[in-house]
Amino acid sequence: MNTKVWKVDKSVDNLESNPQVVDAANFLRDNEVVALPTETVYGLGGNAESDVAVAKIFAAKGRPSDNPLIIHIADKKQLSTFVAEVPDKAEVLMEAFWPGPLTIIFKKKEGVLAESATAGLATVAVRMPDHPVALALLKCCGLPIAAPSANSSGKPSPTNAQHVLDDLNGKIAGVIDGGATGIGVESTVIDCTEAIPVILRPGGVTKEQLKAVIGEVRVDAALTDEAARPKAPGMKYQHYAPNAPLYMVSGTTQFLQSLVEEKQTAGLRVGVLTTEEQVDVLEADVVLACGKREELETVATALYDTLRKFNLKQVDIIFSEVFPNEGVGNAIMNRLQKAAGNKLIAE
Ligand code: TXA
Ligand code: MG
Repeated sequence: MNTKVWKVDKSVDNLESNPQVVDAANFLRDNEVVALPTETVYGLGGNAESDVAVAKIFAAKGRPSDNPLIIHIADKKQLSTFVAEVPDKAEVLMEAFWPGPLTIIFKKKEGVLAESATAGLATVAVRMPDHPVALALLKCCGLPIAAPSANSSGKPSPTNAQHVLDDLNGKIAGVIDGGATGIGVESTVIDCTEAIPVILRPGGVTKEQLKAVIGEVRVDAALTDEAARPKAPGMKYQHYAPNAPLYMVSGTTQFLQSLVEEKQTAGLRVGVLTTEEQVDVLEADVVLACGKREELETVATALYDTLRKFNLKQVDIIFSEVFPNEGVGNAIMNRLQKAAGNKLIAE
């Protein structure tokens, strides 16, 4: 299959009638799958009401079929067609954070969406992305769009159109290139079907921000306890992994440097994931700065691109700094832990 690339400048007016966006929307209406930029990561969109389109999403990604998709909408009015009940706290969350990087789990209205989109669950995950191109595309096609991150299953999520093509060229109808995404880690997933909402995946909206608007919030046990079974099916899979084994390192710069030297002595090509503050201090075969430690948002923005860059540098092993587990650091550490398969070396 020839994968089309539509280049769209997100800052122009009237995106809904932009010929590139209209063309991509027509593909979606024909139940083809199209990658699109959002404010978090690129998504691989398909008509959420069509089993045919959803099957193409799972096939292109090589995604396990028990992992449900997030349904993207441009207008809150679309909710009532496939959501059975909107609890008060969900209403408050939508008011505060939509459009934006928050996915809300609702009870599902049966018989509207493709059963495969929700992996047969009685619930459905929904979000309204805060990206002008994504919103224009959603409005233009008028459909609820199922969209997981547009990477091959297990790889780091894509934060630009080239990442999407690196994984899915020839496997999807097209990609809208709207430039690099901003936030860089996926949306926060919160389950609002329980009296006290539960965070199933940390992401672009922090726990602190959620608490400030709805009060008490719980965190799924699987996020802190490796043995617990996660409530978001996707959280049990290995994710975001670079080709070389990745180890998180907690300790001083000298400790990290000594690990590098030990592996180099053993003949390995060693990569280090650090930040701008330390990039000139550390020595290894490949040292990459992933944002600034003093501004954790910049680390989130650069994380997946940095993980992907190590694949181009042919390293045998990667050591990564760890980050404070608070604010957006929750999402960064959650993704880093998954990318590392939880391998941590502490001084
Ligand atoms: O930022 C994002 O959320 C991006 C962009 C493209 O919107 N999308 C994304 O989708 O990250 P994906 O498929 O990579 O992750 C969706 C997560 C998975 O962990 C999945 O298991 C969980 O949401 N999920 C989806 N529906 C669910 C449901 N009904 N109950 C619990 N978890 C659900
Ligand atoms: Mg994903």
